[in-house]
Order: sequence, then structure tokens, then C-alpha cells
Amino acid sequence: MIPISPTSVAVAICFGVVSILFYNLDLDDLQGVDLEQNAEEPVVGIISYWNNSISSPQRPFKKLVIGINSCLDIIVPGVALLKALNIPPGNKKNHESLADLNQLQETFAQFLARGSAAERPFLNKALYQDIIKAAESLDQKEIHFVGAVGPKLRALMPKGIELDPACMVAQDEVHLIMEYQIGETWGNSRAPVANRFVTSFDETNLHMIMLEPFIKVVNSADFDLMVFSGLHMMDALPPHLFEQRLEQLVILLRDVPTSTVSHLELASMANRDFVKQIAEKVLPSINSLGLNEQELVYVSKSCGGPHADLFDHESHGQPDIHKISDILLWLMKTFGAGSAGGKGESRLSRIHFHSLTYHIIAVVESDWSNTEGAVAAGAQIAGLQACDIPYLKAELLDLKIPAKFRLFTGDAERELDPHSPVLTWRQEGFLFVMSPVLVCKKPVKTVGLGDAISATGLMFSQSNSL
Ligand SMILES: *[C@@H]1O[C@H](CO)[C@@H](O)[C@H](O)[C@H]1NC(C)=O
Repeated sequence: MIPISPTSVAVAICFGVVSILFYNLDLDDLQGVDLEQNAEEPVVGIISYWNNSISSPQRPFKKLVIGINSCLDIIVPGVALLKALNIPPGNKKNHESLADLNQLQETFAQFLARGSAAERPFLNKALYQDIIKAAESLDQKEIHFVGAVGPKLRALMPKGIELDPACMVAQDEVHLIMEYQIGETWGNSRAPVANRFVTSFDETNLHMIMLEPFIKVVNSADFDLMVFSGLHMMDALPPHLFEQRLEQLVILLRDVPTSTVSHLELASMANRDFVKQIAEKVLPSINSLGLNEQELVYVSKSCGGPHADLFDHESHGQPDIHKISDILLWLMKTFGAGSAGGKGESRLSRIHFHSLTYHIIAVVESDWSNTEGAVAAGAQIAGLQACDIPYLKAELLDLKIPAKFRLFTGDAERELDPHSPVLTWRQEGFLFVMSPVLVCKKPVKTVGLGDAISATGLMFSQSNSL
């Protein structure tokens, strides 16, 4: 899943993994997206720019450690599954966690109607096992590898990766990915775009059981880079347990050698207070953060940042570039290195933002190099992996950013020059680099796309502290 071949990859504790959801939106109907004429010309320009301009850093990360959540994903057509379970369409309602089949139906229906991706924990073990049984009996089932390491997952692990013995568990944690297609109906709801709803009953990842073994491995050798994810799995914990576990994480992170660069990949969470605590406590303890538009806006909402209402009205539009960049600047100023929020002690100096149509990396310039190459390489892998092709082909891809856009509030309107698509600007001491994404017209592989983007961005980034 991590498309790299570093000299030595020691995967402690399961492949790190977030079911970061990639929004395979079809934006043709949206206003402001008007690049239909000569559609392939700018696409070819961008492909050739990437071909010629992406170069590896002089000193890439070579020794990596990855944790701490993992699971086996079972991907099914969501509507077919509900039918197999004899659940009829009913009310639409968002639940933060799912206690029974009725709440599964209500929450699935709510997000299908909006076409937005969502993930919610399932709370009833016996019932969840029944659902998985039904899912496994569906004809069209397809099992995707996402992490390590119960018996099934172990058999699927790529060779050449070292697994810590603490990783081995008797039973795989299985996550359920309920997909739906554009136009698919459930009761009186119709999906405006293709997307998916995710649920799981996952005790190992809920309690971050692999946290301590992971940090032990991190401290056992001289790693250049530590990549971890899985905090979203604690969404289903009672508040006092969440707080306890988060405190333990922060204490453990403090012990990570400063010579090891740390990257956290966020994922979809529903509890606003938990997100606030992660932002306040965890962000200052890590060097680098990866997230998508839903997660970024939710952090802003949870912590009183700008454009917090971005998705309140436009439920499936792609967010304006300048609004996202405003939030990134706020996040850096509030929790980043040298910030007031971090009390001068924050380590956070890099944020990799990824959405369907464009990516931005914001860095403290003195700490990171090759940021243009990193953002472009991340954008390139998005198209390659979504289409599952070895080289980008213009006819399979679309440029979906608006014809006119601003880079930040107060910026003049500009148009994209396909011969120079990677844009750089500076604000209040931070460097921002943006690249458009060439969006796969018929995506075949979307699970784990956010992970691939962030991992690739890291492999093309150079930390100046190394
Ligand atoms: C980009 O590079 C690939 C692989 O070398 C090549 O097949 C393709 O034609 C190039 N595309 C453009 C537009 O330069």
C-alpha cells in the first residue's frame, strides 16, 4: 500500500492505516468547473510538466517505521448488503456510532443521500459478526488488503517487510466498506455521486493496543521517519478513556528521538471534542500531518478556526482553494512550530492537504526541502493509483479545479497555466505549494488513496534536520 521501496522498511505493528476515504466525486454538474473545451490540452501539459520536473530529494528518508492500526477491508455494494440483511429503507439520520441495524440504515441513508463518505464505529459485536457473514456471502464481494496481521492479512502482506512479533493477532479485524454508485437509490434517496460508508467493530484498534509495542520499536532503532495513524479508531471510546489514551500517546510521543521525523495521518472522526483534543495535544508533538478536506474543515470547526461552515451548505462540492489555504495558515499559526498555541515548543512544521481535485503542502521553509516535487509526486500518484495505470494518460483523466481561483483570501483571481501547474506562495513565514490533481474519470482503486498520496509526498520530501 505504501508505494515505495526504501532501503529498510521495518513495519512495526501492522501497516499503518487509515481508511482514508477518497471522494470519487463526479463534478461535471457543478458550477464553476468549466474546462470542457480542449479538455485534454491542459491535462497533457500537466502530465509532461510532472514528467520533467519531479525530482527526488538529495537525502530521502531511508529507514522507516509505520503503525499503528490495521485491518482487513471487506468491500461490498452497500444497498445489496442492506437487502441481504432484510433491512428496508427508512429514516435518514446521522448517528455518531451504530448500536443496531436501524442506526446503520439511518446513517447509511443519510450519507448516501448527500454522497459524502463517512465512517462510524459499530457497537454490537454479535450483530457486527452477522453483518460480516452476510457481506461475505454476497456474490460481488471483494477483499482488499489494507493492513497487517491476522492470519488472512498476513498471507496478503508484501514480502520484504519486517513484522514485529507483537503484531501477530489470532483474528483479523475486518472493516466493512459499503459502496454505492452514482444515481443508485435507497428508498427515496438517490446518491448524487459514487462513494462509500464504512463501519467496523474493532477492539484492537479502538484501544490502540499496538501503541506501546509501536513506540517500543520506534525507540529501538535509529529511524528517519515514523508514520502513524489510527487515532480515528478511538472515536467510539467513552470520553474519559479517550482522554486517558490520548495522554499516554502524547507522553510516548515526547520520548520519540528528535532525529526521527514523525508523520500523523488523520481520518474521518465524528466527535468534535475528540478532534479538538487531538489538535491541541497531538499536533504540537509531531513534525508532519496529512489530512483531507473533510478532516481539515472539521478541525477548524472543532477549534474555532476559519471557514468552519464550509461543508454546512455545499455538501459535495470541492472546497475553494483560498478557503483551504486560509485554514492551513490558521492551523500552522495555531498549532505549528513557533506558534502561540504550541508555546514555542511545537514540532509541527509540515501539513500535506489532499482533496479530490488539488493538493497543498504547507511547511516551515527552513525545516523542509523539495516541497514542489513532493506535492507534485503526491498529485501524480493519485491519478496513477485511482486509474490503476503505470503512466498517466490524458484521455483517462480530467482537470477539475475551477477555471479561475484564488490562492488565499485577498489574492487576485488567477488561471492555471498547464505548463507551470505547481504554484508556490508565502504567507506569514510559511511556504505553501499547490498542485492540481488529474482526476481519474473511471476510478478502480480508491481505498487507501489518501495514504498513498501522503506516503509519496513524504518520500519526495526532505527534512532538513536529517
Ligand atoms: C510521461 O512519461 C511517460 C513515461 O516515461 C511517457 O510514456 C508519457 O508519454 C509522458 N507523457 C507526457 C505527456 O510527456
